[in-house]
Amino acid sequence: MSYFEHVKNAPLKKDAIIMGIETSCDETAVAIIKNGREILADEIISSATEHAKFGGVVPEIASRGHTTAILTATENALKSASLTFNDIDAFAVTEGAGLLGALLVGVSFAKSLAFALKKPLVPVSHIRGHISASYLADKTLEPPFITILASGGHTAIVAVKDYYNIEILGSTIDDAVGEAFDKVARVLGLQYPGGPNVERLAKSGKNTIKLPKMLKNYAGGEYDFSYSGLKTAVINYVHTEEQKGREVNKADIANSFQHSAIDVLIEKALKAVKKTGYNTIAVSGGVGANGYLRETLQNAVKGKNIKLILPEKRYCTDNGAMIGAEGYLQYLRGNFADLTLNAKAVLPLK
Ligand code: KG4
Ligand code: ZN
Repeated sequence: MSYFEHVKNAPLKKDAIIMGIETSCDETAVAIIKNGREILADEIISSATEHAKFGGVVPEIASRGHTTAILTATENALKSASLTFNDIDAFAVTEGAGLLGALLVGVSFAKSLAFALKKPLVPVSHIRGHISASYLADKTLEPPFITILASGGHTAIVAVKDYYNIEILGSTIDDAVGEAFDKVARVLGLQYPGGPNVERLAKSGKNTIKLPKMLKNYAGGEYDFSYSGLKTAVINYVHTEEQKGREVNKADIANSFQHSAIDVLIEKALKAVKKTGYNTIAVSGGVGANGYLRETLQNAVKGKNIKLILPEKRYCTDNGAMIGAEGYLQYLRGNFADLTLNAKAVLPLK
């Protein structure tokens, strides 16, 4: 019997233990999740420091990092949960989107485990994984809710109608917000990863520099974003000041940029709550770890009948737990891949 015939009719267990494997960028992450809600183990080995000197992620270094780290991360996860491979009901893995070579390490590894152990292989969308991190943050959370999806590759206001059905109300028409943080960090001479460093510098600055309003005369969707103009405005401001021989206050630039980049996310999320009547806002993606975003959002919902889900910072940035959580939902649907599963650099959010 072929592998797929063996698992395609596997009886689904409601009490399922899923291993979530994530290798789409520079984090090798392996977690073990029970019933999509309970984290039994969560290991992350990052190659971020190796990329710092290049100012951004070097795909080849990321892929090599995964090949050396994936077995250790997996063994550590099993050890910390006091489980063995036999206890795992399915292997969920990020199939995309992300760096192709990096994704291939996780996909090949998960395929080998599923094949050898004759367990289901569950393909997971990285972005759906980010959204599902909220189910770990609040075990009682149920759709519908609005999520602010803010990562290095995506920026969107998403209506999560039910566990499987999501609607993108609006998204960026150019750069993602995390990408803008990283590019602004670079022009300010800050190291990769840029987001946390811009946040740190912004703490000692003030919101004094006027930056252009996003999509001022834009006729597109009211939930859309554009970060390219904002990023360019910051770069131009720095260059102009330098050319004029004036000293730039980098902390003020970081603070002003952070306000412009984040405030609009919150504004549009609140608008989406009004429009849909969903009274829960969740945060997902790496920029969700931003302290200014978290604080401003907490203040913005005060006194309103809006529940706020703020996953711990570790579960906003890339992790294996979110893949296990989303993997559980896909497992319940019997969404199993066969061994032809391939990594996808681009995977549309649907
Ligand atoms: O979700 P994520 O870990 O990976 C992607 O799927 O892209 O997001 C990474 C992005 C990077 O652009 C990083 O600079 C940004 O999230 N980020 C932050 C913070 N922490 C990470 N941006 C602003 N403030 C932070 N504290
Ligand atoms: Zn991510």
